[in-house]
Amino acid sequence: MDHFTTKRLTAERLNDSHLADLVALHLDSEVSRYLGGVRTPEVTTTYLATNMAHWDQHGFGLWVLRTKDGAFAGRAGIRHILVDGIDEIEIAYAFRREFWGQGFASEIAIALTDIGLSHHEVPSLIGLVYIANGASRRVLQKANYTLEKSATRHGEDLVIYRIRR
Ligand SMILES: CC(C)(COP(=O)(O)OP(=O)(O)OC[C@H]1O[C@@H](n2cnc3c(N)ncnc32)[C@H](O)[C@@H]1OP(=O)(O)O)[C@@H](O)C(=O)NCCC(=O)NCCS
Repeated sequence: MDHFTTKRLTAERLNDSHLADLVALHLDSEVSRYLGGVRTPEVTTTYLATNMAHWDQHGFGLWVLRTKDGAFAGRAGIRHILVDGIDEIEIAYAFRREFWGQGFASEIAIALTDIGLSHHEVPSLIGLVYIANGASRRVLQKANYTLEKSATRHGEDLVIYRIRR
């Protein structure tokens, strides 16, 4: 599914043309606060290549999100992640700061969950969130994920939420 739309967003499979928008997004310290910190353009270039390869390997991955007027809003998707040695599939989302607080993350989380569980028929999806990231935790609750357990990753305290098919 290279493209999909929700009520207010369009989603396009990640490609090389998205680099500049992703670099700007990842340079925002507020956006990157709970994403492991600000990423340099070089790190985001590698990130883009890694996530495009994920698409080639698995047939799903990250999409770039735009509002219906074409403005870059953020990125979101479904991807494999190793958690404590277990291959999980997470939903991920990050929006430009000017788009926060309008329900966009909740809208995309619900769409991603449907794509993962119904379209790709994965048995369960997780959300991996910094304990202090209250807004993202609320987004997962609103998308019907249940708090499962605590985890540590790269020395940070996280929580795992899960939804099953
Ligand atoms: C986290 C993020 C995706 C949320 O996006 P958003 O579009 O503002 O989210 P929504 O508007 O759909 O929902 C946010 C909910 O959290 C609530 N909220 C906001 N800040 C909060 C906080 N500090 N503590 C608890 N709840 C909070 C909002 O009130 C809203 O809940 P409500 O609809 O019940 O009122 C956005 O802030 C972002 O892009 N952050 C940077 C990247 C990131 O952290 N991604 C998640 C990684 S796990």
